[in-house]
This record gives sequence, structure tokens and C-alpha cells, in this order.
Amino acid sequence: MVAHRGASYQAPESSRAAIELAIASGIDYIELDVQRTVDNKLIIFHDDNLKRLTNAEQVFPERKNYQLHNFTLAELKKLDYGSWFNEKYPERASKNYRNLEIMTLAEVVSLIKNAPAKVGLALELKNPYLYKNIEAELVEVLEQNQLQEEKDKKARVIFLSFSPLSLERLSELRPQSPRLLLTKSNFASRKRWHGWLDITAEVADGIAPKGHVSFPWYIGAAHKRGLFVLPYVINRSWQWQFLSWFSADGYITDRPGLLSKIYHRA
Ligand code: G3P
Ligand code: CA
Repeated sequence: MVAHRGASYQAPESSRAAIELAIASGIDYIELDVQRTVDNKLIIFHDDNLKRLTNAEQVFPERKNYQLHNFTLAELKKLDYGSWFNEKYPERASKNYRNLEIMTLAEVVSLIKNAPAKVGLALELKNPYLYKNIEAELVEVLEQNQLQEEKDKKARVIFLSFSPLSLERLSELRPQSPRLLLTKSNFASRKRWHGWLDITAEVADGIAPKGHVSFPWYIGAAHKRGLFVLPYVINRSWQWQFLSWFSADGYITDRPGLLSKIYHRA
């Protein structure tokens, strides 16, 4: 089971608070999006623009655009990365969510290495076409911070991407970490689904289709080819129930706290 942007239903997505809550829920992996600052630091952030999730417009009113890749790490660290959540979801707000900081990948690796419970990272390279050579830099940060894979143990890192090319690069750089190809839809025709499976088999170990209605045939066809299936984003217990009947290998959820209770009961 994978926590999508941490426990992002309960706390500001991809923040330290969301990651800590996900760890406390007993999740297997935390899914986070990796991008790069203008001064070449790898950071965790989902959008390509800063406006939705930070107060960048107030802190830097003189800037003409708020594309993340134009900012330095020091600039990003000045931003409030949590108050948006309190405003949007007052019923789930907390004073602890004010003034959270955008985290670097290295900070997240250190957090999970020192976590009270063992948890892995499911890292998505967001917009890899914007960041030349980001695959090699990602692998370098993992190695420098000694997040290694151990033989016959559950993987510490899974790579996710919508880009087969990016996954291919990662397979060369760190073959020991499993890879998942993301697709925008699972409502494909059989022919298209087989097309996706063909690509997946070339570059990845599994496929992550969008949506809860992954028909049994789709999941079975992937299994026959030795590929695992992890649909996203599964936030309701009946969706999870559906998927477990159809033998999905897991799911990606914003609500690890809620679904892990059901999962462990089943
Ligand atoms: O885990 C799948 C998911 O992260 C892909 O979509 O937009 O949430 O990064 P997105
Ligand atoms: Ca993602």
C-alpha cells in the first residue's frame, strides 16, 4: 500500500506532516514527486507552479511567473507550504500545518531512515523532460544518503513515471529498485491495454492505472505477463474492496490511515 503525497487527505500534501502521518499509519511506501530547483537541488513538490500550494505570490510579488524550476532552494525554503490546506479544509486544519517548508529529497530520505517504523519511498520523477539528467541525480542522492536495496528484502525505493524513457534510464542506473509505469486511464480497450502492457514489460515491473474500476480482465492480463498492478488514487473502502476481489497487488491512496485499518482487518 502506498500513501499518495503522504497522508495527503489529512495534512498538506508532500509535507513533513503528511509524511509523518503516513509513517504512523503503517503504510508500506510513501509516494512523492521529485523536481529540481534552478540551483540544482532535488526537492519534493507536485505542481510545476508554486501558486496552489504556497504563498509565493506574497513572498515574491515582483516575480513574473511562479514556475518552480526558476526558484532556488533558499527561495523555496522561505515559503509557507501548509496554510493553503487550513484555508481549503478548515475541518481538517491544524496550527502545525502553518509555515511548513518544502523538503529536499535528501531531507526526506533522512526522515524515513530515522522513522520509528520501516517505510519505503515511491518516487515519481515529475516533468522529467524539464530536468535534463534528473534520473542520474536522483540515484546519486539515494546512494549518497545510503538508501540501498538489500538482496531478498522488500524494496526501499520504487520509481514511478508517466515517461517510459525516464523509467528506462532508471533501470540502467539502479536496476535493483522496482519501477511502475503510470497511465492516465484504465478505461482503455483491450488492444490499448495490451499496448500499455507491452511498454510496461519493456521498462518496468508493474503498471499503475488511474481509477478504481480496474476490471478483472485487465489485472489478470498484467499478471499473466508477470507485471503487478497498483491503481491510483483509491480513497474509498468499497473501491479498495473491488480491487482486492480483482487481485490488484495494492493501491495508492491519499487516506492511508483509513484504508490501513480496513486492510489489516481483511
Ligand atoms: O501515484 C500516482 C500519481 O502520483 C500520479 O499522478 O498527478 O498525483 O502525481 P499525480
Ligand atoms: Ca505523483
